Amino acid sequence: MFSYDKKYSSHSAVFGENPEKILVDHFKKIENSKPVLDIGAGQGRHALFLAENGYAVEALEPSEVGIKQMEQVSSEKSLPLFLTHADIKTFEAKADAYSAVLLFGILQVLPREEIEDLLQSIKKWTSLGSMIFVIAFSTEEPSYAKHKQDDKEVGKHSYLDAKGFLRTYLEPNEILQLFADYEVVHHDEHLTEAHHHGDGNIHRHAVIEAVFRVQ
Ligand SMILES: C[S@@+](CC[C@H](N)C(=O)[O-])C[C@H]1O[C@@H](n2cnc3c(N)ncnc32)[C@H](O)[C@@H]1O
Repeated sequence: MFSYDKKYSSHSAVFGENPEKILVDHFKKIENSKPVLDIGAGQGRHALFLAENGYAVEALEPSEVGIKQMEQVSSEKSLPLFLTHADIKTFEAKADAYSAVLLFGILQVLPREEIEDLLQSIKKWTSLGSMIFVIAFSTEEPSYAKHKQDDKEVGKHSYLDAKGFLRTYLEPNEILQLFADYEVVHHDEHLTEAHHHGDGNIHRHAVIEAVFRVQ
């Protein structure tokens, strides 16, 4: 069973009920003429939020459980949400261009080479004024040292544990290099309050949050 299927089956809001604050703060800047692409949409806290606010959203998610959970809410409310049950590696964009691409918690689960490919694809999937929203983890994260010590290094700051769980960290401010061609609308890096996901352990994240615009 895909690891996120298990997580999503046991809890209805593993990453919380609410969308990330950077989306709430900046979503009104997204042009509504083209759809939004949410990559690794999970249980839909961002895709559903935007769809409820009148944006057409394509939610790409490999977890069948996540897709079904989003489908249920979307059909009850007749939202403009289009569900794509796929992996980013094989995804083919349906729209000519998306008005925004959401990368909430996806960079940290991809190996470095897939992050590189994704950044190239995003250039093809966007046009002038399109926005990119990012939440990722930095090497300042308390769990980084543990992964570095215990797990197999498979790329720069990227570790694979014995159960096949992959975690990739970006260096502080590295996100600005990865998106060097874009206008920076918002960028902040900080340590979160202690919290837990679903029934998981209490922990803190060194979060990178960023909003970029194609210029
Ligand atoms: C940390 S969760 C974040 C979920 C959601 N974006 C949120 O913020 O609530 C990462 C999500 O990425 C999805 N995912 C993992 N590998 C993926 C891949 N190769 N392509 C697309 N999505 C992937 C997982 O199934 C999971 O739902």
